[in-house]
Amino acid sequence: MNVHDSEKIAGILSESDHGTAGSIEEADVIVLNTCSIRQKAEQKFYSELGRLRTLKKNNPDLKIAVAGCIAQQQGDAIFKKFPYVDFIFGPDNIDSLQTWISSRIQSTDNRQQKSALRENPGYQIKTLPMKRIGRVRAWVSIIYGCDNFCAYCVVPYTRGRERSRPCKDIYDEVVSLTGQGFKEITLLGQNVNSYGKNLPEKIDFSDLLRMVHEIVGLQRIRFVTSHPRDISEKLINTMRDLPKVCNHIHLPVQSGSDKILASMNRGYSYRDYKNKIDMLKAAIPDIAVTTDIITGFPGETDEDFQLTVNALSEIEYDGIFAFKYSERPDTKALALPDHIDETIKSERLSHILKLQEVITFKKNMALEGQELEILVEGMSETDDKNLTGRTLTNKIVNFRGDPDDIGNIVMIKVKEARQHSLYGEKVKSRK
Ligand code: 5AD
Ligand code: SF4
Repeated sequence: MNVHDSEKIAGILSESDHGTAGSIEEADVIVLNTCSIRQKAEQKFYSELGRLRTLKKNNPDLKIAVAGCIAQQQGDAIFKKFPYVDFIFGPDNIDSLQTWISSRIQSTDNRQQKSALRENPGYQIKTLPMKRIGRVRAWVSIIYGCDNFCAYCVVPYTRGRERSRPCKDIYDEVVSLTGQGFKEITLLGQNVNSYGKNLPEKIDFSDLLRMVHEIVGLQRIRFVTSHPRDISEKLINTMRDLPKVCNHIHLPVQSGSDKILASMNRGYSYRDYKNKIDMLKAAIPDIAVTTDIITGFPGETDEDFQLTVNALSEIEYDGIFAFKYSERPDTKALALPDHIDETIKSERLSHILKLQEVITFKKNMALEGQELEILVEGMSETDDKNLTGRTLTNKIVNFRGDPDDIGNIVMIKVKEARQHSLYGEKVKSRK
């Protein structure tokens, strides 16, 4: 979500004739787009911002802006601690960068500090200019904010209430992307499954998938993130029936313990969750499933943790993102009793990660010898002789090939399974 917001920030800067600086020292404007999902992300930002103090001292004309969730949450307090910051704007106010940057170009007053933050939830969703990172895959926002209030999560406070983007704007954006040669889109939102709830037109997420699926030139559709409670039979059938929708779902479970799930306010039990997975696998047998896990949520006993371990062994995810519970301002979990010691949180995290490594590798090994369809994204980052792409199940495949294949769907025979990717050989290509 933040990376995509950065594409919007870069888009606005490009439109106002600001190109990418060769290095941070050469920049006239620096925008730090911040994340506050966990403490670690926040600390990274503060140390980065601290480093910019010297740059500003050496170049008083330098303009520093702070964007994103920390900007929204801390507001003008950032100016007090870091007086050399010129502008702060929240994730709902990215468009305000347009006004600020044009007044900066015209203005002679270098000292004025400004902020643009969301005060009320009912703002209009505008389509913003974008400078996309890739040429093959693109993100498309479909829903902003979140109403779920999971007890650990800061998102509803920083990104505000849930708002769906009008489907016509989404459709037009995808048409324009395919016109530019993009082949795959990822529909993006904190909880994509509740798409449409507050729109005047009668449309839900499955209907949106069908609508976008019609677009000629579009080859693949992904979406992230889904909330287990909102996975409906209609959605599962839609995923099964639409060939462009990739066989992968990211479905955060967070914990395998019903007690912890209840105190997280997740709205499902482990059984409910497992039933949804079973339904998905019954409809789409080769579907890949990934998840998010939190270790050491307040009140998590060894028994609760064991239930999470059991869940991982039972479901055998294709991949997981696991995090230690991190205290976030304003969240309900702060007031819960029995916060867990950092060492225990870390031990549990590394236990989970080790277990998953074995499962992921086993799953990758099972693909050796298979022929898979991949969309070629570009040159491999680790070896410039290799191309890289992804399977429908979102597994990374590297292979020796011709850069002309970038943007094409090719068939690959898997030669070697690695821990985080597959190595393959091209079989035949089709445009
Ligand atoms: N501590 C740890 N992990 C968190 N996540 C969200 N908030 C926190 C927190 N306070 C994780 C959840 C979520 C993912 C995006 O980040 O697992 O699904
Ligand atoms: Fe946070 Fe829960 Fe909303 Fe996800 S669904 S953004 S974890 S509040």
